[in-house]
This record gives sequence, C-alpha cells and structure tokens, in this order.
Amino acid sequence: MGKGGRGAVLEPREKWQGEHAAERYTTARFRSRAAAERDPRTVARLLARHGVRRADSVLDVPSGTGRLRPALEGLGLWVTGADISPAMLARDPSERSLLAAAECLPFRKGSFDAVVCCRLLHHLTSDDALERTIAELARVSRGLVLASFWDRNSWPGWRRSMGLRPDSSGRRPIPKRVLARCFARAGAPIIETTHSLRFLSMQAFAVARVRP
Ligand SMILES: C[S@@+](CC[C@H](N)C(=O)[O-])C[C@H]1O[C@@H](n2cnc3c(N)ncnc32)[C@H](O)[C@@H]1O
Repeated sequence: MGKGGRGAVLEPREKWQGEHAAERYTTARFRSRAAAERDPRTVARLLARHGVRRADSVLDVPSGTGRLRPALEGLGLWVTGADISPAMLARDPSERSLLAAAECLPFRKGSFDAVVCCRLLHHLTSDDALERTIAELARVSRGLVLASFWDRNSWPGWRRSMGLRPDSSGRRPIPKRVLARCFARAGAPIIETTHSLRFLSMQAFAVARVRP
C-alpha cells in the first residue's frame, strides 16, 4: 500500500507531520479528560518516586504538543522538549522545545537528570529502530529513563497478538523481555515497570537507571 493512503502504514516520523494530525492530537486524540491526564500523572508519580528533585533537568522526547510539560514543570523540573514534527511543536507554547529525532539527539552524553519518552516506542516498526532509540535515550541521560510502551503481556496486547484485534497502523505491542534486553544493552537496566490502567490498557511505563 502506498504511503499516506487510507490505511497505509506510515513510519512514525511521518505520522504527525501535517497540521491535520497535530490538530487531531490536540483536540480529539483522548476520549476524556481523565484519559488525557493519565500519562502526565503517571510520569510525574514515577519521577518523584525514583528521586527526581526540583531544579533537575528533564528531556521530554517526543514532546509533541507539550502535553507532559505542565506535569513536569509542576515538579519544579527544567524541561527541554524535542520532537520531529514542526506541526506538533507549533502547538507547544514553550520556547524550550526543539526539532530533533529521538534516535539522533543533539545533546552530549549524560546531559539530563532524566529522559522521558511517552507514546513513541510502540510506533517503531522494527526491533532495530527500538534498540537504536533506547540507546540514544540512555546516552543523553545521567540518571533515569522513563519510557512508555505497549505491553504485549496485557489483555488487549494478548488479543492483538492472537489477531483478535487487528491493527493496520503498524503500531505494535512489545514483549517485556525485548524491552529489557534493549535497555540492558544501552547500559540502563529497567528497575520498574508499571501500567497506567492495569489490565484494561496496553500502555505501560518502564523506568530504567543509567549505570554510573
Ligand atoms: C503519540 S505522539 C506523543 C507525544 C507526547 N509524548 C505525548 O505523550 O503527548 C508521538 C510523537 O512522536 C513524534 N515522533 C515520531 N517519530 C519521532 C522521532 N523519530 N523522533 C522524535 N519524535 C518523533 C511525533 O511527531 C509525535 O509528536
């Protein structure tokens, strides 16, 4: 199927390029306010639990429309955003966001106390892309990496993998052992995984700590 057509599998870096996609993500992506607030709340809770403190620096990549920023700034963190889509970035009111790819970040090793990556990994279409992206997230962190993923070992993940809930979008649940291997190879072993809505949602978070 051709790229961009109805039902086409778009590479993640292409999906949010258009104004229409950014508009949809801002106004219609989440069914309710509770759904929209779930990720920001989970991220803030996990960062606080794992020792992130006021005035620490955090990279939010992909930052999209800046949806996580209020929760991160609410913890007193210095937030830098990075995203591949100018259309999404244009909806983030902050000036502390830049155009950059998660797998090739313009920062030195260990630049941030924490790196947050929400709702990207399940869009990556190969294990190779997954491994490269996780390695880059870990490279620029000197502390935590917190990444969401679609957990294959969840009820909806199991239904998808059995073909009971077909998805032609190219998104894919990730087995925990594959994720654990990528983080371990990146020098940042996973120290916790948690679900934002246990059993009902595939959306889960892994917290990893970069080895000193
Ligand atoms: C589902 S949105 C998530 C945005 C934000 N993290 C959130 O939770 O609201 C996915 C975002 O990933 C961005 N993206 C896709 N591929 C990327 C890449 N390789 N590097 C950086 N951003 C990327 C898209 O532009 C889009 O803004």
